Amino acid sequence: MTTTGHELDLIKQHLPAWLETSRQRAGHGMVASYIPELSKAPKEALGITLIGADGECVTAGDCGIPFTMQSISKVFTLILALMDNGEDAVFDKVGMEPTGDNFNSMLKLELVQPGIPFNPLINAGAIVISSLIQGASPAEKSARALEFFRRLAGNSDLDYDLDVYRSEAATANLNRSMGYFLKDNGVLVGDVEEVLEVYFRHCSISVTCADLARMGLVLAMGGVDPVSGERLIPRRYVQIAKTFMITCGMYNASGEFAIGVGLPAKSGVSGGILTMVPGKYGIGVVGPALGSKGNSIAGVHLLETLSHHMDWSLF
Ligand code: DON
Repeated sequence: MTTTGHELDLIKQHLPAWLETSRQRAGHGMVASYIPELSKAPKEALGITLIGADGECVTAGDCGIPFTMQSISKVFTLILALMDNGEDAVFDKVGMEPTGDNFNSMLKLELVQPGIPFNPLINAGAIVISSLIQGASPAEKSARALEFFRRLAGNSDLDYDLDVYRSEAATANLNRSMGYFLKDNGVLVGDVEEVLEVYFRHCSISVTCADLARMGLVLAMGGVDPVSGERLIPRRYVQIAKTFMITCGMYNASGEFAIGVGLPAKSGVSGGILTMVPGKYGIGVVGPALGSKGNSIAGVHLLETLSHHMDWSLF
């Protein structure tokens, strides 16, 4: 495969069939229900959008359905917190290592010293990151995050799904307990409920596969807006974000994903996956049925198929 154009033609030709094969995996997964509103998502749905550096777009399946970013938002709040505070201040409060535990585990917070979250992509780490976003109030911090996400997606209509926001805020006993634990440790500064409000809000930002693909493309291009050529993110922070995506982006299935797909990626419990082929494509996937580790079961299968046929693994 020599040119992106040729590659995209090949993808266009095969993607619908690959997607239908992967869709069959959805039957083996479960839609997340611990946030009650998420249980309404269509279990059999599977969609994908790829956007190339020149703006060419390939889509298949249910790529137009809206879903909330959930943990995918953590990549971009990390970047915003880095831009607001610098590396040293951020990594004083969160580590750089994978946990091997579930995304919502707080096990190691007490077991391993210092009691800072292992990385910014697990819930405990992302809650601390939310506390580092600058702003005079939770509303101002959330507005800054939303504005940043809109710029990266090139979509000024991006907004919250308030039903999902309220549903999570009303049921998040585990995240709440983590917040108070981190406050007691001195890691989280400020009012816990206010920090959680910022966190629940960015998790509830509603997107389609095209929004994720566009945000992924900015990362694929090293932080530069593919349309305007404007630098939106310092190169170093893109490097940090992509490294976390490789090592922790698919939680305790990150090793398996690195072997099967070999690309930086981040999943969310709504079934979204954002990934990219560096220098070439941003990719957004949705498939609400999740496997045992909380990643879209059909979405991962589709990305494995694509990466295998296109020889995309970085390794
Ligand atoms: O805090 C939570 O549990 C959700 N708002 C986000 C978790 C999530 O997306 C984990 N992803 N696989």
